[in-house]
Amino acid sequence: MVHRVLEIGPGDQPRHDVGGVELSDGDEYIALDPNPSEFDFPIWRTLKEKFGSKVRMILGSREAIPENLGVFDEVVMLGSHGYPDKDLVEIDRVLATDGVLKFGVMSFGKDSFLEEWSPELEKRGYVLVNEVESVYVGTSSIGLNWDLKPVEDPKPEPYTVLTFKKG
Ligand SMILES: C[S@@+](CC[C@H](N)C(=O)[O-])C[C@H]1O[C@@H](n2cnc3c(N)ncnc32)[C@H](O)[C@@H]1O
Repeated sequence: MVHRVLEIGPGDQPRHDVGGVELSDGDEYIALDPNPSEFDFPIWRTLKEKFGSKVRMILGSREAIPENLGVFDEVVMLGSHGYPDKDLVEIDRVLATDGVLKFGVMSFGKDSFLEEWSPELEKRGYVLVNEVESVYVGTSSIGLNWDLKPVEDPKPEPYTVLTFKKG
């Protein structure tokens, strides 16, 4: 069975904390990020070398997911969500019935994330099916200080992945 994954805003950490990018025959992984410099990180060359055309990097945003990408079994947003009303209109359009939607949040922000997102998720029929706590070491993306300068010595931080099922 073809398993198609869309990661929104992967930065330089493709599918960190949800198993990395591992693709079997027929699988596809599409990375969508508006910032072209994110795709300059060496990890993307490594993935292309390993998986070839099964991996695609596309410039674009969660508010306007390109029309021609088709339907996905999994949509992943790790530290890259925007606003529930706007994001979920687009995600609903590209996520298969029975598909899964994974969010990554710093654990200290989990409760406020759920408070903000749960009403819209419930309204659209998404059910929380799994919650996994891990530890995240920020790099160039999350590991920014308040001046948006990279943190020289990023500290591991508790991190939670929330998985919702649609339908
Ligand atoms: C905080 S970083 C998280 C990166 C990575 N997912 C991680 O967890 O380390 C946010 C990412 O979202 C991307 N981003 C910013 N605005 C976006 C948008 N409107 N749509 C999709 N991605 C966006 C950024 O370019 C960046 O790669």
